[in-house]
Amino acid sequence: MDENEWPWVLSKVGKKVLRPGGREMTMFLLDNLKIEKEDHVVEFAPGIGFTAAQILKDHPESYTGIELNEEAGKNLRDIVQGENNKIIIGNAAKASLEDGSQDKVIGEAMLTMHADHRKVEIIDVAHRLLRKGGLYAIHELCLVEEGISPEAKAAITKDLSSHSHVNTRPLTQSEWKSILEKEGFRVKKVWTRPMMLLEPSRIIQDEGIVNTLSTVFKVLRKPKARKKILEMRKLFKSHRKEICAIGMVAEKI
Ligand SMILES: C[S@@+](CC[C@H](N)C(=O)[O-])C[C@H]1O[C@@H](n2cnc3c(N)ncnc32)[C@H](O)[C@@H]1O
Repeated sequence: MDENEWPWVLSKVGKKVLRPGGREMTMFLLDNLKIEKEDHVVEFAPGIGFTAAQILKDHPESYTGIELNEEAGKNLRDIVQGENNKIIIGNAAKASLEDGSQDKVIGEAMLTMHADHRKVEIIDVAHRLLRKGGLYAIHELCLVEEGISPEAKAAITKDLSSHSHVNTRPLTQSEWKSILEKEGFRVKKVWTRPMMLLEPSRIIQDEGIVNTLSTVFKVLRKPKARKKILEMRKLFKSHRKEICAIGMVAEKI
């Protein structure tokens, strides 16, 4: 990640929950994944490890996080401990784990960062790694308007990507569903939430009062980060009616 990418800016000031639907959406997905002690679990793009820590509380048989970013990987290794648990630095689309070896796969705020053909590659890997009946959870950005024109979609994509310095390519709910179905999944649960990542109420809900205050103090001391965060908040607010967070749990058929 370069230092202008907004998830990087946020993590540098101590924000731990960086996904669009916040902690609430993550907990909804984990509740529906129902991780058991005998489960082998893979997480694509664990980032700063918020979900990894939640998953490990369920003591699955194994946990494997596949993260592209080496620096994130170093921090993740402090969180992900235990004989059967590991972090692999690499691309989820190229995961070399054995076919059908996993019971649950989760990936949050990562498919949206990729072009559609790359999304398909990653979903395909989730499908390959899972046993039949295994579950895949995603947590991504969604375009609210079904049937949105290609021009309007391109304009939103361009605005979000250029200001955030992160490739941002959301899909509509039916597009997310169909991209999963085409790769051999049946979507079992869908949940949408407003995109409120940088709204004070969501920050307190996600981070708790203590971490929120510590983040606020850090932001006040870092004018560059403050400017970037305010810009991002304005950007998300200006698209408030057009984008939301979406979570899906799908079963390999
Ligand atoms: C916006 S962060 C989300 C992190 C975390 N899942 C969360 O929700 O807080 C995106 C992360 O995805 C990672 N990432 C993006 N594409 C990836 C891929 N193909 N394979 C592995 N990691 C990837 C990036 O390195 C970055 O850490």
